[in-house]
Amino acid sequence: MSFIVGIDGPAGSGKGTVTKIIANRLGLTNIDTGITYRCVALKCLKNQIKLEEKDKIINIANNINIVIDNRENSDIVHLDGEDVTQEIRSKEVTSIVSQISSIKEVRLAMVELQRKLAKGKDIIMEGRDICTYVFPNADVKIYLEASLEERANRRYKEMKDKGINISFEEVKHNIEMRDKNDKEKEIGALKLAQDSIVVDTTNKTISEVVEEIISIIKR
Ligand code: DC
Repeated sequence: MSFIVGIDGPAGSGKGTVTKIIANRLGLTNIDTGITYRCVALKCLKNQIKLEEKDKIINIANNINIVIDNRENSDIVHLDGEDVTQEIRSKEVTSIVSQISSIKEVRLAMVELQRKLAKGKDIIMEGRDICTYVFPNADVKIYLEASLEERANRRYKEMKDKGINISFEEVKHNIEMRDKNDKEKEIGALKLAQDSIVVDTTNKTISEVVEEIISIIKR
């Protein structure tokens, strides 16, 4: 039987960073479920599909080929055979991905894919609905939090480091919109599972958060 650690939380709460470190430390396979929704969003952009064209978006989700190659520091992502590791983090993708991921049929297809990716493995999986919907029986359930200001600051620095031209206000507004959208989804909304342990990462270093979560997992 596989061992499952689920980590949920809003954009910028630190999920991605700490999950990778913990996966390496504990020898778990790291699955970032946001990648799957980002790939659908990117493919819609590439095919000039508008957000109103729901049937076309659903068709894309049902026929998409995503390969995630787990590396120590970052995941290499192939979409229909093409390396899209950088492209899925662009501001164009980021600005539509929450709306794409609100479509019920898209979620059903992605959740099926995420469960397949996890099959038979000991994993740490991060997203929004891992502990409530994808794996409600996960062995360890964590919910990461941080203030909006701090989350916006982290994302802003990340994007600047990647050379993306964006203002702090734009990043903050984008995160606020995504939070709202992610919390209001018909299925798979971002919410705290009854039995999840909340870890607030505001004003904590990455290594403090990592140690806190590892001690929860070991317990
Ligand atoms: O974690 P991220 O920023 O890469 O996620 C991208 C988007 O995908 C985010 O706006 C919410 C959505 N998402 C989701 O709805 N459910 C998940 N399990 C993971 C991500």
